[in-house]
Formats: sequence, C-alpha cells, structure tokens
Amino acid sequence: MDKDFIGKTVIVTGAGGGIGRAIAHAFYKLEATVCITDLSLKAAKETQEIIGNERSQVYELDVTDKKNIENVFEKILETNKSYDVLASNAGVSTMNYVENLTEDEWDFNMNVNAKGIFLTNQAAIKYFKMSKTKGKIVNTASLAAKVGAPLLAHYSASKFAVVGFTQALAREVAKDGIRVNAVCPGLVKTSMQDREVQWEAKLRGLSPDKVIQEYIDMTPLGRLEKPEDVADVVTFLASENSRFMTGQAINVTGGIYTT
Ligand SMILES: NC(=O)c1ccc[n+]([C@@H]2O[C@H](COP(=O)([O-])OP(=O)(O)OC[C@H]3O[C@@H](n4cnc5c(N)ncnc54)[C@H](O)[C@@H]3O)[C@@H](O)[C@H]2O)c1
Repeated sequence: MDKDFIGKTVIVTGAGGGIGRAIAHAFYKLEATVCITDLSLKAAKETQEIIGNERSQVYELDVTDKKNIENVFEKILETNKSYDVLASNAGVSTMNYVENLTEDEWDFNMNVNAKGIFLTNQAAIKYFKMSKTKGKIVNTASLAAKVGAPLLAHYSASKFAVVGFTQALAREVAKDGIRVNAVCPGLVKTSMQDREVQWEAKLRGLSPDKVIQEYIDMTPLGRLEKPEDVADVVTFLASENSRFMTGQAINVTGGIYTT
C-alpha cells in the first residue's frame, strides 16, 4: 500500500475538519495529490495548512448541489488530468426524539448524508466509466448505519441509506473494475461529537462528562475513537491491499459493534 497512491489524485469531501481532514492527511502522507473539498472554503484552507500544500488543492463544494459537484469535479480534472479515488465523507447530524423531530431536521440529514453520497458517487462513476479508470470509492457511513441509535433515528435512516447505496452501486460497477466500499465509524472525537455530547446531555438530563464517560464505557477498546483510526481504514479500502473487497461496510468502532 505504501506506493499505491504516488501519482494518484484523491478527492475528499467534508475535508475541512474531523474525519475528512484525517482522511486527507492520510492520503497526503501516502504521497497522493489531495483535493480537499468542503462546504466551508475557510475550513478546507485550514486543512491544507495542516497537511501541506505541495500536493494539495482546496475547493468549495456542497455535496447536496449536483451542479456544484459537476463543476468542481470538472475543475479537478482540468487541473490534475485524472482522479482515482473519491472519499465521500461529508455528513451532518442533529439529535432529537422522533416525536419532536421536524421535517427540516429529517430533510437536512437525508440531503447531506444520503443524497450527498448519491450525487458525488454518481459524478465519480460517470468519469471512471468514461475514462476506463479502475477507480475506488469509500463512503463514510456510521455505526448508526448498522444499529438504530436513540435520538438519531433520522441520522440512522440516512446512514442505513449509505450502506444500501454502497452495496448496490458496488454490484453495478464491479464489471468495470470500480470498487465501492464504506466505513462505519463509532464514537469519534470531532466537532460533530462535541455538538452531539451537548445535545445528548441536554435531552437526557446528564452532564456532558457523563455522556462522554458512557461512550468510553460502551467501547470495548476503552477510549474515544480518533479520526486517524477511521482514515487508516479508508486508505486501506482505496488501496490494492483490499483488491478483492467491494460492497462492504467496515466497522471501525473499537469493538462496539461486531457484525
Ligand atoms: N464523529 C463521529 O462520531 C462519527 C461517527 C460515525 C460517522 N461519522 C460520519 O463521519 C463523517 C465526518 O464526520 P465528522 O465527525 O468529521 O464531522 P465534522 O462536523 O467534524 O466535519 C464534517 C465536515 O463536513 C462539512 N460539511 C457539512 N455539510 C457539508 C456539505 N453539504 N457539503 C460538503 N461538506 C459539508 C463540514 O463543513 C465539516 O468540515 C460524517 O459523514 C459523519 O456522519 C462521524
């Protein structure tokens, strides 16, 4: 895997922070050219400052906007002549009991998490097929894509959709040599988790520290997950080491969930 990404171009969505930033960094360290994309250009630029700018570019990209995706992916092609990997990672969450859940919350989660995967994957496989590139796609799903999580019914629904889509697309494009897999992270220390801890504490009447302790207690490996724990599995799924894997949704949860 050490040399798999030299001379390759990788697109990462939601790379302005958290897991996406770690994915961008991991590919950069493996000597890929990394296209750091995010809804926030400012956040994407911060990632570039952290990972290095010798082989990276930043792009403002909203994964819910088909036209925007087509334009940015086209620009990426003009600049790099080709691309080989899409890490479709952008995602959002909110927390609520279903009885209080609003349609806006439902639409927001479904739009970014499910439709965002559809639109970015569609753009990538069109290019991979047209150019006969044996491309790799790695989608970020979630532990909540395997087990419905209380307060996250809408988020779980959007992430189950990611796994279903990944499985179906993988079967469609396997004959073209394109592989499509997903990662399912657990309880990862990012700004998304910081927000969720505050919401969960309020909704359940607990202190934020108690919520964090519960997360650690439910994790057999005994600590919060780091973005890098996920990123190393994403690079594996995009590398030749995983050459006979497609349509998989791999748990990276410290043992919280095992099937
Ligand atoms: N943190 C966790 O515990 C956890 C667990 C399982 C899965 N995940 C998933 O991992 C992914 C990354 O989560 P994170 O924890 O790093 O979150 P984060 O909030 O720290 O970072 C998400 C990034 O996505 C960007 N983004 C939001 N909406 C976007 C859009 N419409 N288009 C493009 N970019 C957009 C944000 O600007 C941000 O930079 C998400 O798909 C999330 O659902 C996270």
